[in-house]
Amino acid sequence: MRTMTPSNIGSYEERLKDFSWSLSEKELGYKAGDDINIAWHCTDRVCKLGKAGKTALIWEGLGGASKSYTFNDIRLASNTIASFLQGLGIRREERVCLFMDRIPELYLGFLGVLKMGGVAQPLFSAFGDESLLVRLENAQTTAVLTTRKHAGKVRKIREKLPHLKHVIVVDDDGKKPLQTGEVAFSLEKAEPVEDFKAAATKAESPSVLHYTSGTTGQPKGVRHVHYSLISQYLTAKWVLDLQDNDIYWCTADPGWVTGTSYGIIGPWSLGVTQCVLDAGFSAEAWYQFIQKHKVTVWYSAPTAIRSLMKAGEEAVKKHDLESLRHLASVGEPLNAEAVVWSQRVFGLPFHDNYWQTETGSIMITNLPGMKIKPGSMAKPFPGITAALLDMTTFSPMTDPGKVGLIAVKPGWPAMLRGYWNNEEAFKKKFRDGWYLTGDRATLDKDGYFWFVGRDDDVINTAGHLVSPFEVESALLEHPAVAESGVVSKPDEINMEVVKAFVTLKPGNEPSEDLKLEIMNFIRKKLSPLAMPQEIEFTPLLPKTRSGKIMRRVLKAKEWGQEIGDTSTLEND
Ligand code: PRX
Repeated sequence: MRTMTPSNIGSYEERLKDFSWSLSEKELGYKAGDDINIAWHCTDRVCKLGKAGKTALIWEGLGGASKSYTFNDIRLASNTIASFLQGLGIRREERVCLFMDRIPELYLGFLGVLKMGGVAQPLFSAFGDESLLVRLENAQTTAVLTTRKHAGKVRKIREKLPHLKHVIVVDDDGKKPLQTGEVAFSLEKAEPVEDFKAAATKAESPSVLHYTSGTTGQPKGVRHVHYSLISQYLTAKWVLDLQDNDIYWCTADPGWVTGTSYGIIGPWSLGVTQCVLDAGFSAEAWYQFIQKHKVTVWYSAPTAIRSLMKAGEEAVKKHDLESLRHLASVGEPLNAEAVVWSQRVFGLPFHDNYWQTETGSIMITNLPGMKIKPGSMAKPFPGITAALLDMTTFSPMTDPGKVGLIAVKPGWPAMLRGYWNNEEAFKKKFRDGWYLTGDRATLDKDGYFWFVGRDDDVINTAGHLVSPFEVESALLEHPAVAESGVVSKPDEINMEVVKAFVTLKPGNEPSEDLKLEIMNFIRKKLSPLAMPQEIEFTPLLPKTRSGKIMRRVLKAKEWGQEIGDTSTLEND
């Protein structure tokens, strides 16, 4: 039998009444003007509060490898890494990229970078060299922490990166000599640094730089600051309901904001034990993991949940999942069926919540104790003023069922402070005193938000944002490609996948071989997450009279929707 504990938040309505972020500041022992360092809060402070011997991280890798770390271990490890980075001459506010699989060094390295005052730039290890290049170039990254498996990609682009002074290989086995400018570091062999004075960072000191894709241009670096902790701590406490005895599992990779805000900062600042599984998706392995570690709180994403649904109920029944007590989901629309299904098979609903890389913390959410309407994102977190703006006048509206733009009043602690080197893009995110998320939703009569879709052409495939511009640019580099239009098409599991329409230059004939050749060509340029599932050759692409390709028309066809206003179409 499951034992249910009272939730941390208690009553949503009560919390709304006199909410102030100072509540979180107080719990974290922070006052305006004090130093605030995320890594110190996640390690040293937790130890000071008497949890030094408590397990912080239970890690499992492929093939059954496993490791476990206490809060004192992660304090020492982050000290040791911070001190090593400092010893190399890396200075505060310089960008240090973490480019590795989900091994312990990724989590400990992240904390080490923050502890010495550097800016942590986590990137998916699945990125190819070109995806890596644009992000390291943009951030003028000083150092990369990586592993032997991924160092080759850094080597390929090293010459193009004059700012990149240090490549640190954290699992060097001495078998193959490292190259000039590369240095080995081993947490196991390094002398643990008992005392390291965390950098005296302030609320507005930069902390984390996450890259995200927009409709146009290269990916943008979302700049966060140490003060974001104030939001991440309290949202982890109230939305994820993390409590002292919990064993928490966040399935997200720290290359993605969920994997840092709620896969490192939120749980550890609360002194909560978390598990990490460094392996791809498999329903069997996931259930096994929950059963083995007696996971109590599970934070995942809709694509994974739909994949679990596909794997069927039998797989659930084979395991003892009684330890679970609270489930949450983020990243894409969570369909009503998934919520109903999870209630049936786990006896618990997935609580959908909505936010973005830019918001740094959860914005709209199904809080524990709140009535769940399957398919709805529910209501704003206390302290978050979210509204729907009219699509043309940009004024707030509450008409039930009318589609509007999701906007949030700036000022919550984890809000982005800018896009790296891109002030113009940052300015565009604000209008009439609102931060514009770029998403559309409706509100119902009870004030619940229902996600409708994005207000731009960005594709959300399995929770990963893909810029059509990035894919089109890669396609255009192929000598046979004249033009391309990249849109989403529906998919049962990933919700959306990437589809490319391509016109060919004279002298090229459409063929399956050419499709394959183009796919192989762009594979080297794009991250696997952004790869089209399908290429369709077409003699013509719909365009406006000014010559702009109308992705909207291509997309409507894929989704079987009305094409809408085509008065500006050139070739209809
Ligand atoms: O379009 C929304 C969708 O994901 C976007 C943010 O993606 P990213 O910056 O990668 O951050 C994802 C993790 C926080 C949003 O603009 N999105 C996020 N959560 C939801 C969602 N769409 C529908 N329902 C959600 N719960």
